[in-house]
Amino acid sequence: MGQTILVTGGAGFIGSNLVRYILEHRPDDRVINLDGLTYAGNLESLAEFVDEPRHEFVHCDINDGAKLDEIMPKADVVLHLAAESHVDRSIHDPSLFLNTNIIGTQCMLDSAKRHNIKRFVYVSTDEVYGELPLDDKSQLFTESTPLAPNSPYAVSKTGGDMLARAYHHTYGMNIGITRCSNNFGPYQFPEKVIPLFVNNLIEGKKVPLYGDGRNIRDWLHVLDHCEAICRVLDDGKPGEAYNIGGNNERSNLELTKMLIDLCGRDETFIEHVPDRLGHDMRYAIDATKIRDELGWEPTRSAWPQALEETVQWYKDNLEWSDHVRTGEYRRFMDQNYTNQG
Ligand SMILES: NC(=O)c1ccc[n+]([C@@H]2O[C@H](COP(=O)([O-])OP(=O)(O)OC[C@H]3O[C@@H](n4cnc5c(N)ncnc54)[C@H](O)[C@@H]3O)[C@@H](O)[C@H]2O)c1
Repeated sequence: MGQTILVTGGAGFIGSNLVRYILEHRPDDRVINLDGLTYAGNLESLAEFVDEPRHEFVHCDINDGAKLDEIMPKADVVLHLAAESHVDRSIHDPSLFLNTNIIGTQCMLDSAKRHNIKRFVYVSTDEVYGELPLDDKSQLFTESTPLAPNSPYAVSKTGGDMLARAYHHTYGMNIGITRCSNNFGPYQFPEKVIPLFVNNLIEGKKVPLYGDGRNIRDWLHVLDHCEAICRVLDDGKPGEAYNIGGNNERSNLELTKMLIDLCGRDETFIEHVPDRLGHDMRYAIDATKIRDELGWEPTRSAWPQALEETVQWYKDNLEWSDHVRTGEYRRFMDQNYTNQG
């Protein structure tokens, strides 16, 4: 039997891919797409689903409890993604991050509790674990790694993550938590490293690489993440967190060189800029639990092919990038060298 899935942040990068994924792969389900349409939310990312009867968009701030209470009764389950998501912005203005990512999550959980939501999945991040050393590749984040977030963004996500855990423990709510590594794919806001660098390279501009570029991230295709979120929704154990990763560790320098190559430029296009404050060295995920318990494995994330397809998408969708780069985006970019998610 189909259900109504309330997706928050459905006009953002992962959210819009998730809404599309649900509409295409779960024909019995309906989606209520709730988004506050900040600078990072763009309905153009879902243009082909505007008239889709199984897709209803609601313009709403997750901190607006009264409005949430009007929408929540229509939903069976919740996938909560809405958040301020850019680490650099959190370094410039932590307060917005705490308000949206912690208090906003509390508002979502309270409304979901009042309306007896059957299952609530909080989309967290691997950044809650802090960082790993560069020189010992045997170390990976597992679900029992202590949480030790380093940036204001990571702290705000950890607050939401811990609240979700507490609402399960205290009120018995059926909650799942996902902790995923860096996503890549279409419709990512062009402040994040891959679309920013591709757009710069297409436009003949240099790419600002933080520090020496040795920092390592694990990259996962956004649709592999969407599939994992749905597995956790359907079959995850109440109260449990699941790591999600691509087993695809790359240094920022390696990524930059690949993007330069795919865009037909050379290394003179790299501009080394001062490192991000508190820049985490390495993230790497042990995704054994979700593989063994829920049978999930990435199938779309293998590089170079998946990266090539993503770069091609940005080359083919210059108009989308141009439309979403609003005045607010341009002001922030002019004032700060910013490049990583
Ligand atoms: N991008 C990644 O690599 C990654 C990895 C792991 C986890 N995550 C998590 O996944 C979620 C989505 O990330 P993303 O990269 O798609 O972010 P994004 O910035 O592209 O999208 C965020 C969306 O949330 C909406 N939003 C922000 N504040 C809101 C508010 N107060 N009320 C309602 N809507 C609001 C925005 O309008 C936007 O549509 C976030 O919770 C993020 O922490 C992201």
